[in-house]
Amino acid sequence: MQDTIQQLQQEIEAYDVTTAAGLDQFRIAYTGRKGRIADLFDQLKTVPAEDRRSVGQQLNALKQLAQDKFDQRRQQLEDEAAAQPADAGYDYTLPAVPGALGTRHPLSLTRDEIVRIFSRIGFNVAEGPEIEDDWHNFSALNFPENHPAREMQDTFFLPPAGGEEQNRLLRTHTSTVQVRLMQSQKPPIRSIMPGRVYRNEAISARAHMVFHQIEGLYIDENVSFADLKQTIYYFAQEFYGQDVKMRMRPSYFPFTEPSTEIDISCLICKGVGCNICKYTGWVEIMGAGMVDPNVLRACGIDPERYSGFAFGMGLERPTMLKYQIKDLRLFTQNDMRFLRQFEAIH
Ligand code: DAH
Repeated sequence: MQDTIQQLQQEIEAYDVTTAAGLDQFRIAYTGRKGRIADLFDQLKTVPAEDRRSVGQQLNALKQLAQDKFDQRRQQLEDEAAAQPADAGYDYTLPAVPGALGTRHPLSLTRDEIVRIFSRIGFNVAEGPEIEDDWHNFSALNFPENHPAREMQDTFFLPPAGGEEQNRLLRTHTSTVQVRLMQSQKPPIRSIMPGRVYRNEAISARAHMVFHQIEGLYIDENVSFADLKQTIYYFAQEFYGQDVKMRMRPSYFPFTEPSTEIDISCLICKGVGCNICKYTGWVEIMGAGMVDPNVLRACGIDPERYSGFAFGMGLERPTMLKYQIKDLRLFTQNDMRFLRQFEAIH
C-alpha cells in the first residue's frame, strides 16, 4: 500500500496538465469519486490496525497533493483564458458564408398577391376540405342529377367510407367552399377561397390532374351585377396592370345565373394577336356570375332577401403568364433549378 502511495505521488508530481480536457482527465484519474485515491481510501480497512494511522496520514497527504495540483492548474488555465482576447481564433479575412435564402413557390406568390388585392376591399380568406362529397361538389351547386356537367369535370371518386351514403370524391373546384361558407355563416359574406383541386386529366405541358383555384363570394342585401363587374375590374387592374382592358362574355355555370366568362386584353401582344391569345387579342381569366337562387336556398339563405356574386379562377395560368413559365409540370416537379429562380421575390 505504501509503495502504491509513493508511486502515485511521483505520478501526480510529474503529471502535466495544459488543457481543460487534460484537467478533466486528471480529475477523473486521481481526485474524482471513482479515482485511484478514492480506491486507496476504500482499501484502508485491509491495512493492519497498527499501521492504519500512519498510512491514513500518507493517504491524506497524497489527496491534498492531488487537490492542490488540480486547483493550481485550474487557476492557471482560467488566467490564461482571461488573458486571451475575446475573438482569438477568428480569422476576419476569411470570406463570409452567405445565409441561405428559402424560396417561395411561384403559385404561392400568385395566391398571396391575389389575397392581398381582395383583402384591401374587405374580403377575408376561407378554406375547405379537399376530400368532399357529391352534395357539396355538385348537388348544392345546382348541378342536376345525371347532368353532363358532372362528367365535364372528370371527377376522381373515392370508395365510400364505412357507413356513408354518399360517394366521396376529390373536389373538382373550390366552389365547394362557397357552399360550406353559406351553410355556416350569415350574410354579409365576403370571402376568397384559395385551394387545390383535382380532375382526371392526362398530364401535359398545359394540363395537370392537380391544380389550384381561387374562388370569390360576396353575399349581402342588394348585391348586383354591377358590383361583380366593378370588383373584377378592380382586381384585373391591380393584378394585371392599370391599362388592362376587360370584357365579359355570356356563359353557363349551373351555380350562377346569369353566368359570364371574363377576358382581359392579352398582356403579351397588347391585343394585336399572338399565340398566347390564339390571335384573338383576349385571354380568359375567370368564370363568374350571380349566385343562382337555387344555390342560396340549398345552403339555407333566403334568396328573396339576399343576392350575391361568385367568381372562380385558376392560379396556374396567371402564374405562367406572369413569370413566363412554359410548362405546367414544372410547378410540381420540385426541381431546385426552377424554384431557386424565385428566391428574391416575396
Ligand atoms: N367552378 C368553376 C370551374 O371550376 C369556376 C367558377 C365559375 C366559379 C363561375 C365560380 C363562378 O364561382 O361563379 O370551372
